[in-house]
Amino acid sequence: SPHSLLILPGDGIGPEVMAEVRKVIDWIGAKRDVSFDVSEDLVGGAAYDAHGTPLHDDTMARAQEVDAVLLGAVGGPKYDDLDFSVKPERGLLRLRKEMDLFANLRPAQCFDALADFSSLKKDIVAGLDIVIVRELTSGVYFGEPRGIFEEGNERVGINTQRYTESEIDRIARAAFELARKRSGKVCSMEKANVMESGILWREVTQHIHDADYPDVELSHMYADNGAMQLVRAPKQFDVILTDNLFGDILSDCAAMLTGSLGMLPSASLGAPMANGRPRALYEPVHGSAPDIAGQGKANPIACILSFAMALRYSFDMGGDAARVEAAVEKVLADGMRTGDLLGAEGGQASLTSEMGDAIVGALDAS
Ligand code: NAI
Ligand code: MG
Repeated sequence: SPHSLLILPGDGIGPEVMAEVRKVIDWIGAKRDVSFDVSEDLVGGAAYDAHGTPLHDDTMARAQEVDAVLLGAVGGPKYDDLDFSVKPERGLLRLRKEMDLFANLRPAQCFDALADFSSLKKDIVAGLDIVIVRELTSGVYFGEPRGIFEEGNERVGINTQRYTESEIDRIARAAFELARKRSGKVCSMEKANVMESGILWREVTQHIHDADYPDVELSHMYADNGAMQLVRAPKQFDVILTDNLFGDILSDCAAMLTGSLGMLPSASLGAPMANGRPRALYEPVHGSAPDIAGQGKANPIACILSFAMALRYSFDMGGDAARVEAAVEKVLADGMRTGDLLGAEGGQASLTSEMGDAIVGALDAS
């Protein structure tokens, strides 16, 4: 069966980096025995310009049907003064909400050629390849009661860390499924020592593991220790499973293990569809980069690696995902750099299209 993919390039550098992803998709489609059913549509400011809404209902409906959505970036100064209800980011928020994307995957992958870019020592990060699975739709950012209330003669700010068993169940399953497509190892992080939600998190995670994923290796860690271990020895981890708040902090921390924003992919997964595949949205972590948009010099690697994640997690094409990643590693090892990857010593910056062509060239040679 063809793999259906909806491409939403969006605004700013979104269409520029997506043009390079198209080359990779075409290469995989041509060289491997698979057919991608690729459709392309508007999102964000581009959709607002065309339809007066940052996400057309037809686009939303298509996103619910396809195996994977690949998004570039949305937003830009042109749209800063728009009414909140039609701002570009509302298009992205609608996709996330209606697709019920409760699992956010943020890989921290260190390409050897860029190990000097890390905030950490080279030997701590060289070859690093981990994924943080963050619960995205519940927890302390959403729990009730919340608000600023009068209490006696002063005010009190209240947020509630709240997780139901079913919310923990589904994010734990997402992490275990992921681990099966990787090294088969999950470390779950919470604060069961001081939080009831953490006790329940640990209990439910262990239960799901024992019942349905005994083949996966599960460990538990307090999140504060986890933060320390992530910086001390990140390679001990493979999949890190954690809640919304801890995941917010741990994933930003992990991002700095590897360097440039132009290198960071992400995925958000929802409930399984009728065909068993999870609803999925893949996108680079970076935004529309208005400061360099239109100049053809954005780094396309974050978006290309987002497509590699789609290959691995939506299409069960882990081997091809690894080939794409190896092609990226090869091109970087050959010294090719977009402007964002040039260190203090400078050097020759390659254009977006040159980087894309070189990655396809490396795929050809692989
Ligand atoms: P940004 O990620 O767009 O840019 C931050 C800095 O990193 C800029 O200097 C930019 O040139 C650089 N950069 C980002 N991606 C790059 C790449 N692939 N290659 C080379 N350099 C790269 O974040 P910023 O400036 O805060 O936001 C710009 C616009 O993007 C805003 O309208 C914002 O709302 C939107 N945005 C959209 C996101 C999304 O679509 N998911 C996420 C973050 C911001
Ligand atoms: Mg954050």
